[in-house]
This record gives sequence, structure tokens and C-alpha cells, in this order.
Amino acid sequence: DKAGYKHFMAKEIAEQPTVLADALSAYLDGDRIEIPATALDFTKVDRLVLVACGTAYYACLTAKYWFEKLARLPVEVDVASEFRYREPPVLPGTVALFVSQSGETADTLAALRYCRDKADSIVSVVNVETSSIARESDLALPIHAGVEIGVASTKAFTCQLNVLLLLAIKAASERGHMDAADKAALLTQLRALPGLFNATLDRDGTMEAAAQKIAEARDVLFLGRGLMYPIAYEGALKLKEISYIHAEAYASGELKHGPIALIDKTVPVIVMAPHDGLFDKTVSNMQEVMARGGKICLVTDARGAAEAGEGVWQVITLPEVDDRLAPLLYALPAQLLAYHAAVAKGTDVDQPRNLAKSVTVE
Ligand code: M6R
Repeated sequence: DKAGYKHFMAKEIAEQPTVLADALSAYLDGDRIEIPATALDFTKVDRLVLVACGTAYYACLTAKYWFEKLARLPVEVDVASEFRYREPPVLPGTVALFVSQSGETADTLAALRYCRDKADSIVSVVNVETSSIARESDLALPIHAGVEIGVASTKAFTCQLNVLLLLAIKAASERGHMDAADKAALLTQLRALPGLFNATLDRDGTMEAAAQKIAEARDVLFLGRGLMYPIAYEGALKLKEISYIHAEAYASGELKHGPIALIDKTVPVIVMAPHDGLFDKTVSNMQEVMARGGKICLVTDARGAAEAGEGVWQVITLPEVDDRLAPLLYALPAQLLAYHAAVAKGTDVDQPRNLAKSVTVE
């Protein structure tokens, strides 16, 4: 049931404030994160290996920044299809963590089985709690996203990020890198995030207008730095998956190492950049693009919009958000730009060509 929405994807995007609030209450009891220390004690973990495919892989890439920065825990991230055949050494002290909405992705399951007798423990972050990946894990953490029908993953992504962030906060506090006051402050911000999701969804009109222009392009670039780097990748995947527009993502700093050669007035460059400590660097990347006739669509906040300077093609202004939580909020414009571009192109949004919701063969 699409509940009055034109597509399941639109419904699932719109559900995110409610679903995130429910997921938070499932995991939080005051400032206590309800993941039993008996199942996962981060004081005994030397490193994490995070493995997944597609959108779930971008959730892992985001989590790497959180685990490393907040918890000072070394993290390796890999796509499951590469990990499983490379046969990497998995040393004692390693927790192997697998992220999958369906819990049935063949490559992710095979990677999990490869780690079975090698890692200290196998943890999964899944939506389907009865899935193979959940059943074969020592600890399966549900994301509580509810059933996701659209082939393009949306609410599952933000809910995966939520669980991974809670794990990183748990790791940071258990490993002595986050005191109780900092943890309480961050959790307060996290509890306010569903409200910021709503405020972002209220600005859908600006995203629809931008997407209608982006839909005219043949090629699109996405740029992001730090925590926005994985979100740039997610935006590019979403756009190509449902609108069939060719999209590539790069870390902003990689621009001058090759992709800048692509820049001209026909290639929109979508820059995901809240006004954080790296914003100045992003402004200089944008200037490099604009100096070559490139068109910038900047997704930022009010301070970023004020400091972006002249010449930006389109600005999408989101509410201010704690830097550490920005990936969850900036996932929404990534989804909505793709959604509206696909609608403008008239593609089959919920069932894009050549794709399956769950990839159970390799
Ligand atoms: O069920 P999974 O999370 O394991 O699926 C992984 C990918 O197949 C999936 O995220 C895919 O990339 C989505 N269609 C992206 O929107």
C-alpha cells in the first residue's frame, strides 16, 4: 500500500522521521545504548572489518569515519564481492560486521561465512531479522526500518547509519574516548534528528526544482569531503539506479587528479557540504569548477549558503545539524534529487530496469 504516495520510494523517504524516532527508542534507554556488553565488548576489540554491497557499503564507509574519529578504533571497509575472493587475513581481535537490508545478499553472506572461524565475533546490521545473515551472526542488530519495497534503498540506509553510529558511540565511551557528558549531548542531538528530517522534507520543493534541471543532464558529478564523501557516492548510486543518468562521485580533493577534465556547462556538479571544518576547502573546489564553466548545485546549510559566494547555480539549504550527524540528514537530499530526477524522466522508480531488490546470486 503506497498510502497515497505515487511510489513506494516516495513513501519510504517520507517515513524516515517516524522510522528513525522508533529505531532510536528501540535502542536507547535514557543515555544507555541497549546493546549488551556481553555480546559486544569494545574494550576487547582491536579492529573492525565492515563488509557490504551497494548502499549498505556506503553506510559502512560512513561508519569508518565514526569508529575511527569517535572511538579511535581502526576500521577496514570492503565490498563483499572483493573481500570474499581476496581471502584477506582476519587477525585475532577482529570483529567482522556485515550490513545488509535484506540479509540475503549472496556476496555479503559468503563474506560472513569466510570470517566465521577467523574473526572473534560476527555482528550484522540487518532489516530482515529472520534472514540468513542475521541467523548466521553471533549478534544481529535490527535497523527497525520496516519493510522496504522500493528497489532503491532509502529508509534502510538512514536506519543502518543510525545503528552504526550508536555502535560507534558505544565504542567511544567504552574505550574512554567519549565522556558521559559528551555522549549525552550527542544523543540529545540524535533524538532531535527526526525533527530535522521533517524540516528537510518540508523543503522538498527546492529539491524537486533542482532535480528537474539535473534531469536534463547526461552526466552528473557528486563531490563530498569527510563524512560527506560516502554520501556523495550514495547520491550518485541513487541517481544512476533510478533515473539512468550517468553519475560519478569523487572525494572533493580528488577533483584535480582527473575528473576536473570532465567539467563543462553540461555536467552539473552536486556538492554535499554542510558548513563544517572542511567547508573552506570545498569552496575552493567549487571555484575551480565554476572557473571552468561548471554548474554547481550546492547542498548545504544557511551558513554554507551565505559563504558559498557568487555564481552557484542552485543552492539547497538544509537545517543546521551537528557535524557528526550530517550524513543522516544529507542522505535525504541525495534520495530526493534522484527521486525527482527519475520522475521527471518518467522511469519506473520502484522497479528500475535490470535491478532486483535482493541480489541472491553473485
Ligand atoms: O539487501 P542489501 O542491503 O544487502 O543490498 C545491498 C545492495 O544490493 C543494495 O543496497 C543496492 O545497492 C540498492 N538497490 C541501492 O539502492
